[in-house]
Amino acid sequence: MAAYKLNLNRSSLEEDKPTGAEANGKKLAVVLHKGKVYAIYAVCTHEEGPLEEGYMDKDEIICPWHAGAYNIMTGKANPDTNWVHDTPVYKVVEDKTTGDLSVDM
Ligand code: FES
Repeated sequence: MAAYKLNLNRSSLEEDKPTGAEANGKKLAVVLHKGKVYAIYAVCTHEEGPLEEGYMDKDEIICPWHAGAYNIMTGKANPDTNWVHDTPVYKVVEDKTTGDLSVDM
């Protein structure tokens, strides 16, 4: 596992507003949720919809194309939207001084 710096700073994130980022060639959706930053693989498991353009509903990020729902903390797909499957999430590390963000992958 290695740390990859995101081209994002915590100060640029708005609560529950997914933002696109890239690390190690992977597209990520980064979300500030309940005061903590999460990163989920942004390519939807259904038809590759862009999760970074989705929205949050409670603890879930919702795909903008067909509303597949994933838990932002675990990547677990909601069984009520069984056209999507579990997807990877990555631990986000925040530099408390600068607000710079990186992910462990
Ligand atoms: S592409 Fe995401 S739910 Fe269909």
